[in-house]
Amino acid sequence: MSAQTLETTAQAMVADGKGILAIDESSPTIKKRFDSIETECTEESRRAYRELLITCSGLEKFISGMILFDETIRQSTSDGVPFPEFMRKKGIMPGIKVDKGAKDLAAHPGEKVTEGLDGLRDRLAEYRDLGARFAKWRAVITIGDGIPSDGCIDANAHALARYAALCQEAGLVPIVEPEVLMDGDHSIERCFEATEATLRALFAALYQQRVLLEGTILKASMVLSGKSAPNRAGVEAVAERTIACLKRSVPAALPGVVFLSGGQTPQEATAHLNAMNAMAGYLPWKLSFSYSRALQEPALNTWAGNTANGKAAQDALHHRAQLNSAASLGKYSDAMEKEAA
Ligand code: 13P
Repeated sequence: MSAQTLETTAQAMVADGKGILAIDESSPTIKKRFDSIETECTEESRRAYRELLITCSGLEKFISGMILFDETIRQSTSDGVPFPEFMRKKGIMPGIKVDKGAKDLAAHPGEKVTEGLDGLRDRLAEYRDLGARFAKWRAVITIGDGIPSDGCIDANAHALARYAALCQEAGLVPIVEPEVLMDGDHSIERCFEATEATLRALFAALYQQRVLLEGTILKASMVLSGKSAPNRAGVEAVAERTIACLKRSVPAALPGVVFLSGGQTPQEATAHLNAMNAMAGYLPWKLSFSYSRALQEPALNTWAGNTANGKAAQDALHHRAQLNSAASLGKYSDAMEKEAA
């Protein structure tokens, strides 16, 4: 696979006004989401819900790619069109979550390391055949008493870099996602420090493993106060600290940074992204979105497991995608929240 193909794909993932829709919830996570709307979680209910998201009309104006789960990339629309084929025809690139989840890191109480490298080369080749153009691997960094440790940061950076190199060998653009969790009562400055250390270690590891940065996308967490912190930092501070942190640690060769929402409300996630793009002067990379919860929440609640609500749910998804597209260009405003989809 040529470097040129990887670069072209990576640039298309962060094309102007576009971001990524993450619908790659693992089986336990999607069950949690379905529990919240009192809907039974079966292979068919998951397929029906994902079909609703994938077939939402006009989404391709705002969404460049969708991240799928292993089960979903093998499923089809009710008319029998495989999801990846449906997406490709619509101009949306299929992506695939390939990590096997964050597990306890030995000798590091309270910290996790993401597993999934064993057999990854073969799995990537299969996903490529199924139509995937990019992949995702999520690492989890926790802020707490005396953590994150260097051991945890380095173990996760190493795994992300090994994964990224294998993706590029298979012709897939790697999304590298080191999520610094917002759980806790820490200050925004502690989040800044943990995020900077995490990103510096990640890019050192990517360099060591010979990963082509021009064909890589970073999925980052924003620099935020802990969820239960007193006096949480406001929108402007979050935007300013996040950009400052990225400038210190993310090489200019990278085409784009897409944010996860991480438990922010849909409105917060959109407002933060917009503030960054509105305040920043020249930046070497695009700043866009790769939200799961912040894009899906209104659609999930509207659907509530009822087929009759499908169109209204799609309208809700379309509206959030449109707002985040505007935010990726710094053109979102509060007033747009009230406009109909
Ligand atoms: P959230 O936007 O819900 O944090 O999910 C991000 C993610 O990593 C899913 O791919």
